[in-house]
Amino acid sequence: MIVPADTQNIEAAAHALLEGKLVAFPTETVYGLGANATNGLAVVRVFEAKGRPRFNPLIVHVPDAAAASELADMTPLAVLLAERFWPGPLTMVLPRRTGSLTVSELVMAGLDTIAIRVPSHEIAQSFLRAAAVPVAAPSANVSGHVSATHASHVFEDLGASVDRIIDGGAARIGLESTIVSLADVPTLLRAGAIPREDIEAALGQRLAVHASGAITAPGQLASHYAPRSPLRLNATHAHAGELFLGFGSIGNGAALNLSEGADLREAAANLFAHLRRLDARRPNGIAVAPIPANGLGEAINDRLRRAAAPR
Ligand code: TXA
Ligand code: MG
Repeated sequence: MIVPADTQNIEAAAHALLEGKLVAFPTETVYGLGANATNGLAVVRVFEAKGRPRFNPLIVHVPDAAAASELADMTPLAVLLAERFWPGPLTMVLPRRTGSLTVSELVMAGLDTIAIRVPSHEIAQSFLRAAAVPVAAPSANVSGHVSATHASHVFEDLGASVDRIIDGGAARIGLESTIVSLADVPTLLRAGAIPREDIEAALGQRLAVHASGAITAPGQLASHYAPRSPLRLNATHAHAGELFLGFGSIGNGAALNLSEGADLREAAANLFAHLRRLDARRPNGIAVAPIPANGLGEAINDRLRRAAAPR
């Protein structure tokens, strides 16, 4: 059920989470499907609800860097990035602290690292503080489907398998967090809501790019974030039977435009919702206008390429 984000519902949702139930909650990036990370059975339910391959580890959400440091080794670079970007849409993959809090092994899927995120969204913050346990939360969508940016998307995808969905309206950013590994040389594992350039500027060094092939983040699976209709990228117009998703001035005759003003932030916020809306019309295909590669455009193009990949 979808519930409004008032204090009482947030408390009740935190209570349900502690009982092992699944709670979907808004973050500034996309909605998360939350489980008590210390409860292995609850974590299993996340994989079941999403139909997600078991080898994919989950991001652990905590309210602040102090809570993060109980779970992970906050290296000097981690402290630097935390000061600059937390709370906010940065996920850091860090060495696990051994003998620390009892996060279920399933959350890390056998890795000796842990992915941690401190969301800035006010409702997410209230929820995490009320729960007072680390919350494992992938994006609240069926595995491989586009991420949910509205409470109604979560309901469409996951329905009854979620105990409750806290409604926080539309996700402000609409694109998942940027994932950086600091477990080894600083590496960009997933382009996301914070442009790579901003992180490199804060670190004072370039980020390595993850070698293709090995799956450490399923966002790296070739076909991911996919709507049902095939996607054709860098298109200037729709072919017969297709719907056109425009960007900026390349939007003549478009069914929808990601951003008429060619604003990459607006395009990111609209991306998944627009793909869902066009997909729901069951076209033969969706043709997408070219998106610039700078700033948030790196992450938008990454999601589009995966959505367009052969399945
Ligand atoms: O914005 C977001 O990050 C959203 C919101 C809900 O916080 N969450 C999200 O989670 O996108 P998910 O599960 O859809 O994507 C998490 C990514 C996966 O690609 C996963 O493989 C990777 O994080 N990941 C988790 N733990 C990891 C680890 N220890 N090492 C490498 N990658 C890891
Ligand atoms: Mg996801």
